[in-house]
Amino acid sequence: MSALRVGIVGATGAVGETLLRVLEERRLPLAHVAAFGSRERSAAVRYAGDLLDVRATTGEALADRDVVFFAGGESLGEAFVADLAARGIYCIDNNATFRLHDDIPLIVPEINAAALERRHHILPVGNCTAILLALALAPIRDVAGLREVIVSTYQAASGAGRAGLDELDAAQRALALGEPETPALVFPAPLARNVVPQIGTFDADGWSGEERKVAAETRKMLGLPDLHVSATCVRVPVRTAHAESIVVRTERPTDISALRAAFERAPGLRFHAEGIVTPREVEGGDAVHVARLRADGAEGTRFALWCVGDQLRKGAATNAVQLLELLLARGFLG
Ligand SMILES: NC(=O)c1ccc[n+]([C@@H]2O[C@H](COP(=O)([O-])OP(=O)(O)OC[C@H]3O[C@@H](n4cnc5c(N)ncnc54)[C@H](OP(=O)(O)O)[C@@H]3O)[C@@H](O)[C@H]2O)c1
Repeated sequence: MSALRVGIVGATGAVGETLLRVLEERRLPLAHVAAFGSRERSAAVRYAGDLLDVRATTGEALADRDVVFFAGGESLGEAFVADLAARGIYCIDNNATFRLHDDIPLIVPEINAAALERRHHILPVGNCTAILLALALAPIRDVAGLREVIVSTYQAASGAGRAGLDELDAAQRALALGEPETPALVFPAPLARNVVPQIGTFDADGWSGEERKVAAETRKMLGLPDLHVSATCVRVPVRTAHAESIVVRTERPTDISALRAAFERAPGLRFHAEGIVTPREVEGGDAVHVARLRADGAEGTRFALWCVGDQLRKGAATNAVQLLELLLARGFLG
């Protein structure tokens, strides 16, 4: 394997910072890592014991990279990804722009790594909530098929980036000190001491952008275009890690012991046969945790479960770095 030149657009953000950490942890053969943001800053982000300068993002500056991770917002993906990919640069993109394009795979390596081909220079990373959900559903799909999924989410403030975390922190501090709370700007209602049932804007039918993404992307990741997925996405005053309450209806009858066995052997999952698992305890880890598996009724076709995972890691940065690892393992780079 030859050493690679990697760029990270959005390196100062919540996902970008996690990307740098995951790249460092996984010890990939990188010749040079360059950090990009909205403007230049010296010694602004940490990587492998060094402080890296942040460069302004331009097409020219990105063009000497072998791989570019995009974690800087929708418009950046639209501005640069297609051009760089046409020049043969692999673009691993955390934005939604290309996720549902027909000829572009939406890869969660534990589920559908086989979809990757050398010609796929645009590699979107799916919505963080959908990645966690698809990982929890894949073992059920494999055992008994899936007919219907109803999911309610409990999504952390860092899902809205640094600004979301800062808004929650400031409001919690103000409330604790009895000071006036600053108005909510990132979230549609104050998040401290609250839950907010809106993530993204509502469409004409009342579904939020996040709910639409979760449904469509989960179907694509699982390769089940007709699966009925109904999502209600809710922001909760948790710093990091999303949780999901999931009810499924299967195609064929099965039972708890068959599902338990499937969860226990599923890559990327940690199954808890007893007790509970909460966002705070999974923060900083890569596994998606499944707990509270229950049969709902005697027919063997309806089950309920609880799922939790760090959305900045497996829902974004870790999945992105796994895509780079896949490119390397297939010999598509270097
Ligand atoms: N947060 C999550 O849990 C999560 C999960 C999955 C996917 N995503 C997606 O990942 C992307 C990044 O999200 P985030 O939560 O990390 O956001 P964030 O914390 O707000 O960080 C945004 C990053 O984008 C950079 N940026 C903004 N405008 C730019 C421009 N014009 N040119 C270059 N860089 C620019 C910022 O750099 P400056 O410091 O220079 O402003 C910052 O590094 C978003 O598309 C988001 O939807 C987020």
